[in-house]
Amino acid sequence: MSDPIKKPDRPRVPIPPAPTRAPINSRVPGAGLPLPAPEPLKPLPPGDFENFCKGVKDLLGVDLSLYKRKQMERRARGLASRNHAETLTEYLHMLQKDAILLDRFMERMTITVSQLWRNTDIFDAIEQEILPELDARADGRKLKLWSAGCSYGAEPHTLAAICLEMGNKLSRTPQIKGTDINPRMIERARRGHFSEEDARDAPPRLLQKYFDKVPGGWVAKPSIKQLLTFKVEDLFASKTDAVDLILFRNVAIHFERERRDQVHEILARALMPGGILVLGSTEMIVNPSAIGLERVRPFVFRKVDQEAF
Ligand SMILES: C[S@@+](CC[C@H](N)C(=O)[O-])C[C@H]1O[C@@H](n2cnc3c(N)ncnc32)[C@H](O)[C@@H]1O
Repeated sequence: MSDPIKKPDRPRVPIPPAPTRAPINSRVPGAGLPLPAPEPLKPLPPGDFENFCKGVKDLLGVDLSLYKRKQMERRARGLASRNHAETLTEYLHMLQKDAILLDRFMERMTITVSQLWRNTDIFDAIEQEILPELDARADGRKLKLWSAGCSYGAEPHTLAAICLEMGNKLSRTPQIKGTDINPRMIERARRGHFSEEDARDAPPRLLQKYFDKVPGGWVAKPSIKQLLTFKVEDLFASKTDAVDLILFRNVAIHFERERRDQVHEILARALMPGGILVLGSTEMIVNPSAIGLERVRPFVFRKVDQEAF
């Protein structure tokens, strides 16, 4: 019997060496000429980055100095030079005068990126396990859910759609708060308008049930809007407390370690005993027990209920 896996022998043809790929620059007119040496990065005038951070904070309320400096500075400088600004101070002046450029700056810094049903798996876990468990513990009390650092509101709108979809599996419809330090994002969140790109991972049935189609995207129906409130709030000065579920995803990811630990502690304090904190899919808390949390599953932490012991 012939071996079904063995392919019929073919005459052996020597394999020619892989063609060497011309560098991109040599495929344009002038190919063959030596590539110009990359321009060395000009040193920034002293205080340029600090001045830029202060200006951005005044403009948007966003404190870039909380983030990893190297990363922020590299991105900001890249954007500045693409806009033909020689220094960050010059770029800041451009941002102060141009709202569209400002929005683009925020997006490119990836500080405000979001989408509906971002990382769908976690929303399945919230619907099937986390909310039923929290509801059972709440004993008829209305659950308080918080999307901390909600950007333009995709995350709390997703939560609201899920809560409505759960219907009477929950004893009461939860209240959902979205907060962000950036007033422009909160203004957008209140509008509840999302692009096609924002909706790319949304389950089509739920998207059509809870959002109306509009040219270029989707707008939240009043049924989900009425569950939501939005507020401009700096997490480091937050007064929010007694929350059952906090979604804190992709906010502290670029923060310096010390600031990240600090904000985790603030959020742990804001939780009800037994409450749940959900982080983004690449984030972690190094020592959860130090702030009264226990790890339930990857990226999900529960506030230890001291009274249960
Ligand atoms: C990348 S978005 C994350 C949006 C959403 N949580 C998600 O995962 O899709 C991060 C948001 O955190 C906000 N943020 C950063 N620092 C903050 C602070 N100190 N207080 C409140 N919000 C903050 C930013 O303004 C931005 O809109």
